[in-house]
Amino acid sequence: MTSSDERSAVETSARNQLNVATHTEIIRTVAPTARELREAFSRYPTGVVAVCADIDGTPTAMVATSFSVGISFDPPLAALAVQNSSTTWPSLRTADVLGISVLAQDQAEACLQLSSRTRDRFSGLELARCELDCALLVEGASMWLEGRIHDEVAAGDHTLVLIELRALKVHEARSPLVYHAMGFHAIAS
Ligand SMILES: Cc1cc2nc3c(=O)[nH]c(=O)nc-3n(C[C@H](O)[C@H](O)[C@H](O)COP(=O)(O)O)c2cc1C
Repeated sequence: MTSSDERSAVETSARNQLNVATHTEIIRTVAPTARELREAFSRYPTGVVAVCADIDGTPTAMVATSFSVGISFDPPLAALAVQNSSTTWPSLRTADVLGISVLAQDQAEACLQLSSRTRDRFSGLELARCELDCALLVEGASMWLEGRIHDEVAAGDHTLVLIELRALKVHEARSPLVYHAMGFHAIAS
């Protein structure tokens, strides 16, 4: 049997199972390798946040593209998936309050610095404070959020962190940085 015969047999079998019209294209999919999965996940466009807090008087941060809002409106919950291998999260999670800065389109360099394993994550960066509970924020971000950990749920090699949001400030004039296909982008106007 040639590979085109095999393909046609797979398509016929899929059509018969699904009882779909003959003009419907059957897309062959494969179980992804770890590399393909990582690359495919990176093709889902996201914002980029810096999650910051003072830990024993020391500014502490990590960057996340897994951050997501709209998880719940009442109470207002956002979510963050943290790698279980993170050396920063164990201390960051002890903070009373987390400052979340949605990075702006001109903050790609700040993103790399705030996620670096070798550089000082805060050197030269201007910081801000939330009025409510003094959460640590990055100046120049497109949105600031302040929250507290609502729950942590084991999620494979990550932990899903639910954050209850208590205060926010939107900077409408600053466009957010977008992460897509392993690169940083601006929203096209
Ligand atoms: C663009 C970008 C997105 C990232 N997104 C996440 C994320 O969603 N979750 C996570 O745990 N780490 C994420 N990281 C990695 C962390 O920011 C940090 O670099 C990593 O946790 C290593 O440092 P640590 O051992 O101090 O935690 C991301 C890094 C970059 C550069």
